[in-house]
Amino acid sequence: MLRTQGAGQAARLKDFLRAVAFTPAGVRERIQTDVLAGRHKENLSLLLYRTREVDALNLLIRWFIVGEPAAQTAAKQCIPPDILQLLGDCGLLTPAGDTLSSPVMFSPFEEFWIATDTYAHLTASSGGDGVLMINATTLCLLNLAMRTPCRSLLDLGTGCGVVAIVAASQFAEKVTATDLSSRAGLFAGFNAWLNERPNVEVLTGDLFQPVAGRRFERILSNPPFYVTPTSAKIFAENPMGLDGFCRNLVKQAPAHLEEGGFLQMLCEWPEIEGQPWEERLSEWFEGTGCDAVVCAGGTYDPILYAQNRLPVVTTLAGKEADYQKFEEWISYYQAQKVKAIHAGFLTMRKRSGQNWVHFERVSTQPSVPLGDAMLHLFASRDQPFSDEQLLASKLQVADGVQLRQVAAFSEGKWRRSPRIPIMQTFGLQLVHEITPEVAEFISKLDGSAPLSELVDDLAREAPVPREKVQAECLSMVRKWLYRGFVRQAP
Ligand SMILES: C[S@@+](CC[C@H](N)C(=O)[O-])C[C@H]1O[C@@H](n2cnc3c(N)ncnc32)[C@H](O)[C@@H]1O
Repeated sequence: MLRTQGAGQAARLKDFLRAVAFTPAGVRERIQTDVLAGRHKENLSLLLYRTREVDALNLLIRWFIVGEPAAQTAAKQCIPPDILQLLGDCGLLTPAGDTLSSPVMFSPFEEFWIATDTYAHLTASSGGDGVLMINATTLCLLNLAMRTPCRSLLDLGTGCGVVAIVAASQFAEKVTATDLSSRAGLFAGFNAWLNERPNVEVLTGDLFQPVAGRRFERILSNPPFYVTPTSAKIFAENPMGLDGFCRNLVKQAPAHLEEGGFLQMLCEWPEIEGQPWEERLSEWFEGTGCDAVVCAGGTYDPILYAQNRLPVVTTLAGKEADYQKFEEWISYYQAQKVKAIHAGFLTMRKRSGQNWVHFERVSTQPSVPLGDAMLHLFASRDQPFSDEQLLASKLQVADGVQLRQVAAFSEGKWRRSPRIPIMQTFGLQLVHEITPEVAEFISKLDGSAPLSELVDDLAREAPVPREKVQAECLSMVRKWLYRGFVRQAP
């Protein structure tokens, strides 16, 4: 198992890893693929081929990323003796006969190195408390996170600790990383040591129990949010019904947030027949004393959800048993009247006063940083523009907004689509549909004239009274300003 060593040893090991290019760029250049030897050992032959020469980088890739042993003689040939000793002392390498192999996955990520469990461990029936590797959901949370400096941050359900380590390195003075699993605590502690992050404190226990009575400026969480009837794999599942775990987290978080503090988390929730999902989610925030922005991304049919999620949390047990499990899941969704399952993320802020909840449909999970977009949403709700202020403002379209013109060929000529998508290439990557007339109006928002003048121009040509034109413009512009399509000119 993993063991931390002296502080100087972490620096020594990292210097070596850097020197042999065991970095994201170095590994990428060597294996020339993003597809690792994952759950089903896909790409294994290709990876073995690309790492067939005996050198230090190839040995590290084989041990730590591909999960293959290497001969001790090859290791002695390529790796300095003190590093080989250190890798053994840390528990990153273990001997078996005349080979050395790694019991863990150990990958470069940005400027860090992170140890996690292997796919073999996670998929084994004994891997219930397995420590998940960095995956799409980790990246989502990192993209969602507001990166402005903060004094204290809690990463709840830290797993390998990567979110805590990134936060502690880039924007949080002190980070507390908690997890139910003591195995996760061990990995997170090891990774904090290796990445020289003494400002990460690792605690184990259920939900907020390890931080009872404490408050934080920020809370980040990528919780075990799967909506499943089973709870064998705690890296994805939980024993509470449907979305009970996420709801509970939201309900308990305010007691651990400072006034003005934020919780940002990923979540999934069911849509129950006869109830709009927004209504279900609104209840999560009732009585919390928090404002919230909920972003809904993907929506899944329960049957497809089961097909997608079952292989992640169950060990294949043969056709009959697998089919039975599939049916059990479907019956569970039917009994609970689950019409669909939504995936998304939320940001909530503790604030005394009249609270609000804002729902947004987004086309994907965050794939670009959107912490600033979140802060902007909250700031514009805090200080809404009056009509007079808006009319006096000079506004301009935000950099990175795109307008896509689609034309369809029909009856001998190209005809422009009456609906034009306008989209953000940043933040929430929102997409709205507008008419050609509105597109024309937006093009005039170049920061040169106050909005009132643009309304005057429009009203002169419009067949409706000026007040109506003004009211429509204000409503549209307010919506664009709030969502970041449009900004105030400097
Ligand atoms: C989806 S993983 C996230 C791991 C890591 N933070 C990441 O983003 O890659 C969820 C984590 O929550 C932990 N967990 C599950 N149930 C928990 C509970 N009741 N209290 C605290 N942590 C829990 C799991 O052990 C797992 O490490």
